[in-house]
Amino acid sequence: MKISRLVLAIILVALMLSPERCESRKAKIISTSFEYSAINCRAHSVSLTDFGGVGDGNTSNTKAFQSAINHLSQYGSEGGAQLYVPAGKWLTGSFNLTSHFTLYLDKDAVLLASQDISEWPVIEPLPSYGRGRDAAAGRFTSLIFGTNLTDVIVTGDNGTIDGQGEFWWQQFHKKKLKYTRPYLIEIMFSENIQISNLTLLDSPSWNIHPVYSSNIIVKGITIIAPVTSPNTDGINPDSCTNTKIEDCYIVSGDDCVAVKSGWDEYGIKFGWPTKQLVIRRLTCISPFSATIALGSEMSGGIQDVRAEDITAIHTESGIRIKTAVGRGGYVKDIYVQKMTMHTMKWAFWMTGNYGSHADTHYDPNALPEISNINYRDMVADNVTMAARLEGISNDPFKGICISNVTIGMAVKAKKQPWTCTDIEGVTSGVTPQPCNLLPDPGSEKITTCDFPTENLPVDNLELKKCTYSIKHA
Ligand SMILES: *[C@@H]1O[C@H](CO)[C@@H](O)[C@H](O)[C@H]1NC(C)=O
Ligand SMILES: *[C@@H]1O[C@H](CO)[C@@H](O)[C@H](O)[C@H]1NC(C)=O
Ligand SMILES: *[C@@H]1O[C@H](CO)[C@@H](O)[C@H](O)[C@H]1NC(C)=O
Ligand SMILES: *[C@@H]1O[C@H](CO)[C@@H](O)[C@H](O)[C@H]1NC(C)=O
Ligand SMILES: *[C@@H]1O[C@H](CO)[C@@H](O)[C@H](O)[C@H]1NC(C)=O
Ligand SMILES: *[C@@H]1O[C@H](CO)[C@@H](O)[C@H](O)[C@H]1NC(C)=O
Ligand SMILES: *[C@@H]1O[C@H](CO)[C@@H](O)[C@H](O)[C@H]1NC(C)=O
Repeated sequence: MKISRLVLAIILVALMLSPERCESRKAKIISTSFEYSAINCRAHSVSLTDFGGVGDGNTSNTKAFQSAINHLSQYGSEGGAQLYVPAGKWLTGSFNLTSHFTLYLDKDAVLLASQDISEWPVIEPLPSYGRGRDAAAGRFTSLIFGTNLTDVIVTGDNGTIDGQGEFWWQQFHKKKLKYTRPYLIEIMFSENIQISNLTLLDSPSWNIHPVYSSNIIVKGITIIAPVTSPNTDGINPDSCTNTKIEDCYIVSGDDCVAVKSGWDEYGIKFGWPTKQLVIRRLTCISPFSATIALGSEMSGGIQDVRAEDITAIHTESGIRIKTAVGRGGYVKDIYVQKMTMHTMKWAFWMTGNYGSHADTHYDPNALPEISNINYRDMVADNVTMAARLEGISNDPFKGICISNVTIGMAVKAKKQPWTCTDIEGVTSGVTPQPCNLLPDPGSEKITTCDFPTENLPVDNLELKKCTYSIKHA
């Protein structure tokens, strides 16, 4: 009797000292520590599992995300908050971010975009577009959405956001969608944004879309989608000021970076340009699209874009300007240097007759102004045509400067490496020999095209080192 009581007591004590064992049917509590650099660190940190998240790849976590973020929004004025997403497969529909907030994905966390249409609320078209891109009516809200925010971070230890786009691409091809496909991350009317250290897979459409926003850092992002998937643009700064895109690797079915500012009469009326954009260390693979596109929606204007240390591999074109009569707006003060291109259809492409209008009400007198375009210090190999530069008649593209560029032509290259119409500019030290509209005065006058030396304000933004230790299931 006495011995068995003693045994019982020992068992009870052991159970009390070991709460995890008591709850052996529940998941184990783990403590995780990590650190990363960010525009701001957060005073509060919780795990998605504290809000009922289940990472089984089948249970919907839309409510868990939204209730966690709604709860964390109260800490905005108390040091901000972070939502940690542990390892697991987290199926979710669209959810909204809040200010002074960080969404952090563990390296083995995968956000899986839901294929249940009811998980994707529909919102209004963008005012600068007047309609949705795929369909005139509204747009499905992006997977991760934010509007009217300040100080928001989406990051992780290279965790994954999988858009499961195949479902959407098929619906799109079959013309079955009533609304425009969702993007993976869209942040509107916001400032102080960081999107970093993530892998984005198979987006239904565009991947990252900051719009009407400023002070934006996009860094260390890997984007992968089939090269034939429709409109899977990589990163599209749209009517944004002071943006930095660095260290990104993109394989996609559309432009790797597309700089935009609204569409035809809607973009002209909204009048919100993209300016002060710097792109560094971008690698792009996109056989049917551009490495960096300016347009085609550029009706609010695009000004002061700098790109350097860019690598294009098996990509249709290097830098491409896309515009049309009716767009209005401008693309000016564009600077690109240190670009390497392998296997291209065109190194440089400018298109003045892109077409693709929002509707038939565009103003035929709204001519875009394309000026001060500078490309220098580039090498390309296996190129089919060096350049195809087509301005608009009575509206030539002006101030084009290309210097120190060597383009190695493909065995099956076109006989005429340059075609130029309605453009004006100069070249210096460019091979093969450019078209007559871009004369090279030779040794009489060696030109080095401009590239600004002063920093943009976003370059002066110091990131802080943030350290966390969080307990989670
Ligand atoms: C991204 O990851 C690198 C390497 O792990 C880390 O040093 C850096 O702090 C992270 N950067 C950002 C901007 O999240
Ligand atoms: C997946 O979720 C659905 C609906 O939530 C449920 O009916 C089904 O049983 C789940 N399947 C598995 C394998 O858990
Ligand atoms: C998310 O934000 C949009 C736009 O402000 C709003 O219409 C929608 O109701 C929000 N959703 C939730 C769940 O709060
Ligand atoms: C967001 O900001 C824009 C521009 O300032 C404003 O027009 C709009 O009403 C704001 N929306 C919300 C939901 O506050
Ligand atoms: C992130 O993950 C992707 C996909 O697995 C990989 O290709 C890439 O190299 C990783 N990036 C870093 C910085 O580890
Ligand atoms: C050159 O480009 C063609 C496609 O245009 C490709 O098939 C071939 O492999 C490339 N050659 C080299 C050496 O990269
Ligand atoms: C020409 O461009 C190459 C890179 O393609 C660079 O290494 C070289 O320094 C440039 N030459 C001059 C004179 O700037």
